[in-house]
Amino acid sequence: MNKKPKKLCLLAILGVIPPMILVFGIFPAVSLADNDAIDVVQERMLVMKSVDAAAKRIAEMMLGRDAYERQTLAAAARTVASHGGSRLIQQYPEGSLESPSKASPKIWADWDRFESLAQDLVLFGEGLAQSVERHAGPDTQPLHATARPDYTARRLNTGSLSKQPPKLVYLRLLRTCMTCHTKFRVKE
Ligand code: HEC
Repeated sequence: MNKKPKKLCLLAILGVIPPMILVFGIFPAVSLADNDAIDVVQERMLVMKSVDAAAKRIAEMMLGRDAYERQTLAAAARTVASHGGSRLIQQYPEGSLESPSKASPKIWADWDRFESLAQDLVLFGEGLAQSVERHAGPDTQPLHATARPDYTARRLNTGSLSKQPPKLVYLRLLRTCMTCHTKFRVKE
């Protein structure tokens, strides 16, 4: 099966749908027609896949498998950031759990936590971009040797993150993905 054209088509959809959401303000918390409910699930799964693709580009460079290219890295980090925050939480109207969604009903039971993790994606994505721009090159030590980040993230901002080594901010970003999935995504 040739995958390329399909991917391009998905990217086109990703480019078109988010502005439509902004313009038409769809996804009200009240009743969603069945098709809309399925669309909302499909769309957010696609968006997560593009977040995942950007995260993989970042990982390859952070781990030294790809050449460390600061502009490419910062752009990928901003792609991740752009899908967090209010844009992410808008994709979760209450009770939208239609198949094939792996979202957990805990999202709506602990909405504040979900929202704050969505916000962390913006904070650490943008923080990583700025850290990469500020530091000349990759940290020379391997990832596991990087000082352990303290995860009391609430008082951090992009300014303070930009001064931290890229790998440290990268760990915070990864931790955000993992924390949200552990808590709010149902295991396969
Ligand atoms: C605020 C919570 C949250 C954060 C942060 C988050 N995710 Fe997710 N992610 C989810 C939820 C919820 C789902 C399941 C969505 C569904 O199936 O309806 C998901 C699904 C996924 C999927 C599966 C998509 C599919 O088609 O099944 C991938 C891959 C993924 N996330 C990658 C990432 C990566 C990489 C990051 C960090 C850069 C990240 N996510 C950050 C909540 C989050």
